Amino acid sequence: MTKKSFDLIIKNANELITVEGASKYPKIKKQMEEVGTIKNGAVAIKNGRIVAIGETKNLLANTKSVKKIIDAKNKIVMPGFVDCHTHLLFGGSRENEFTEKLKGSSYLEILKKGGGILNTVTATRKELEKPEKITNKTLKTLDRMMSYGTTTAEVKTGYGLNAEAELQMLNVIKKLNAIHPIDLIPTFLGAHIIPKEYINKRKEYINLLLEMLPKIKKLAKYCDVFCEKNAFTAKEAKQILQEAKQLGIKSKLHTNQFNDIGGIKIGIDLKATSLDHLDYVNEEHIKKISTSGTIAVLLPGVPFHLMNKHYAPAQKMIKAGIPIALATDFNPGSCPTLSMQMIIDLACRNMKITPNQAINATTINASHAIGMAQEIGSIEIGKKADIIILDIPNHKQLPYWFGINLIKTVIKNGKIT
Ligand code: NIG
Ligand code: FE
Repeated sequence: MTKKSFDLIIKNANELITVEGASKYPKIKKQMEEVGTIKNGAVAIKNGRIVAIGETKNLLANTKSVKKIIDAKNKIVMPGFVDCHTHLLFGGSRENEFTEKLKGSSYLEILKKGGGILNTVTATRKELEKPEKITNKTLKTLDRMMSYGTTTAEVKTGYGLNAEAELQMLNVIKKLNAIHPIDLIPTFLGAHIIPKEYINKRKEYINLLLEMLPKIKKLAKYCDVFCEKNAFTAKEAKQILQEAKQLGIKSKLHTNQFNDIGGIKIGIDLKATSLDHLDYVNEEHIKKISTSGTIAVLLPGVPFHLMNKHYAPAQKMIKAGIPIALATDFNPGSCPTLSMQMIIDLACRNMKITPNQAINATTINASHAIGMAQEIGSIEIGKKADIIILDIPNHKQLPYWFGINLIKTVIKNGKIT
C-alpha cells in the first residue's frame, strides 16, 4: 500500500466516535444506540476533508508525512455538533421576562400581553439599523458556540417581521456565514408572530409574507412557521408553506410546543424536512410522524428554561421509528443557551435519552434535519473535517459531567480553531 501525506492527524483517541453509516437516511430505533466506536482511533485530514480513519497504529504505519499531529490520549474524538434549530441573530435580551416567569407568568401569557417575541422584534429592528454592530455582536455569539463544539448551525429570521428587516436579517446571516468558520443554514421565519402593526390585519400580514417569498428565495433554504395559539393557525401555516414549496423552499414547522392546533398534519402533508418542538403530542401523532419521513427536532432546553416540565416523549418516538434530532433553539426568550452539551445533559435527564442516542441526535440526525448529511454529521471518508475533541475518556461521560464545557479542541474544515 502506498503511504500518504496528510495536513493533520488526530491520533490515540481513547474513543473515536464515527457515527458512521447513516448519511443517506437518518438513524432510527436501535441504530440510534450505535455510535461506531474505534478504540485508540485516529483520523487523517487533507484539504479540509477526512481522508483516512482507523486504529492509530495502522493509520500511522500508512502515513508518509503529516504537517501537524494532535495527540488525543485519554480523550474522545467525535463529529462537531450540528445545531439544527436556532434563532441566534437577535437584538437585546429578555432577562426581565425570566424573572416574571419565576413569579409564575407563562410564555404565552407574556406573549399575549405584547411582550416576548415582540420585545425582541423591537430590539432587533433597532439593532439592524447598524448592521455592522449586530454582525460583530453575533460573531461573538458564533465564537462562543464554536467553543462549545458546534460546527454547523441553522439560523432563523423572525425578529424583523417586515419586508425590509426580514431581508436584512437574511443578508446579515449571509455575511456571517461568509466570515465565520461555523456554517450557517438560513431559514425564513417571517411567520413567527403577527407584528404589532398588523395585529388587526392578519390577512394583510400573510399576504405580505406571500409577497416576500419570491424575494427571499435565494437567501433561505427553508421556510418555517410558528404554528401555535397566539401565533399562526394550521390553515395559515399551510398557505405559507405551500407557496414556499412551489418556489422550491422546503418546509420546517414549530408545532405542538404548547398546544395541538393541527400543525403536524400540515407538516406531514407538505413533506416538511422537520417538525420541531413536539412537546405536546399523543400516540396518534407519533404514529403519523413515524411513517412520514419527517425528522422530529426536539428542544429540551425550552421546557427547562420555561419551567413547564413538559418534555417531548422522546423514547416513545424512537420506539415508534421516528428519527430524532436534538437542538438548542437558542433564542432570548424560550432558550438562552448555545451549548449543545447542555442540551444533551437535559435530554438525558428529562427525556431519558441515552448518551448514544444523544450523540446521534446532535450529529448525523441533526445534519439530516438541515439537508446536510452528505457533507457533515459523521467522521467518514470524504466528509468535511468538522471534528471535536472532548476531555473525557469515554462518551458515556458526555452527559454525566453536566454544566461543564468538556471541549478541548474544535476542528472546522480541517483547521484548528
Ligand atoms: O422556538 N416558539 C417560537 N419561537 C421560539 C422562541 C422565540 C422567542 O421567544 O424569542 C421558540 O421557542
Ligand atoms: Fe424555535
